[in-house]
Amino acid sequence: MQHTRRMILKGMLGAASAAISPWHAALAQNASLHMRKIPSTEEKLPLVGLGTWITFNVGRDQKLLDECAAVMAAFFKAGGQLIDSSPMYGSSQPTVGYGLKKLGYPPSLFSSEKVWQSSADAGLDQMEQSRVDWGVPRFDLMQVHNLASWEKHLDQLLAMKADGKLRYLGVTTSHGRRHDDLERIMTTQPIDFVQFTYNVADRKPEQRLLPIAQERGIGAIINRPFRRGQLIRHFRRHDLPKWVSETGASSWAQFLLKFIISHPAINCAIPATTRTDHVQENLAAATGVMPDQAMRERMIQYIRDL
Ligand SMILES: NC(=O)c1ccc[n+]([C@@H]2O[C@H](COP(=O)([O-])OP(=O)(O)OC[C@H]3O[C@@H](n4cnc5c(N)ncnc54)[C@H](OP(=O)(O)O)[C@@H]3O)[C@@H](O)[C@H]2O)c1
Repeated sequence: MQHTRRMILKGMLGAASAAISPWHAALAQNASLHMRKIPSTEEKLPLVGLGTWITFNVGRDQKLLDECAAVMAAFFKAGGQLIDSSPMYGSSQPTVGYGLKKLGYPPSLFSSEKVWQSSADAGLDQMEQSRVDWGVPRFDLMQVHNLASWEKHLDQLLAMKADGKLRYLGVTTSHGRRHDDLERIMTTQPIDFVQFTYNVADRKPEQRLLPIAQERGIGAIINRPFRRGQLIRHFRRHDLPKWVSETGASSWAQFLLKFIISHPAINCAIPATTRTDHVQENLAAATGVMPDQAMRERMIQYIRDL
């Protein structure tokens, strides 16, 4: 996987580009990110977070570890809070731990992790190893990854929450999979968060999942906002519509993110990146004007017509 990560890296743009990134100025002028309340407690979270799948799977390569730490530094500096990882993401958890230690454990961190085991006991061991890897006293959010043995894990997570060993619990899916199961869990289980894929090209969650999240008071975390970068690579061949500048968006990444986070049921979108300029660009999408319903419809139509 280290090779994959290296191939994904596009040269040395990462840390070096931070000072000259156009988003740097936008963030400085518009320091506060839009936040939305977590429905179960009303604690506020910024609308954009940081994913770690693939991008943070860098093994022990010191240079890449430091580049990931630079991405995290830019993320916290811009006001980011939620970082999402999983034991499924290779060495991403120790990479997050490396970055947190280097940055002195920023107090604004909102740690979002996952459990992915076939038994509750194995899940406990896995969560403890994850905690050690991050170097945190407890996780803010623990989610059952891809609904794996969710019945077994959920009871355990509820007990941990009651004991103060974690603050929130939830479940995840991605790629549009298992929406029926997700819906059943959302309507029957006392979860704080649900995580799934949603973007302007994958809008099925608008029919059931997002309205249920709103009705039931469950925070929605959105993974794969760029379909692992594929959407940006695809749309980049087309002009960004001029009218989207009314929202402050000036790139396809910001168009895509603003579309997602302007849905009122969404707590946080979690794009992943290897680059400090991209993390600034992504967080800057959570500043300025949010698209209203008319703008959202215009965005959908524009994408349809491409
Ligand atoms: N079942 C689950 O629970 C589940 C499943 C999938 C994902 N997730 C979570 O969701 C996170 C995000 O999903 P993802 O990792 O699939 O991919 P993604 O966030 O949709 O896309 C990441 C890709 O987009 C590129 N990118 C990021 N910002 C950019 C920008 N401003 N301009 C141009 N390119 C940009 C990155 O390349 P650069 O490095 O060049 O920026 C990277 O290759 C994961 O990391 C993970 O935390 C959870």
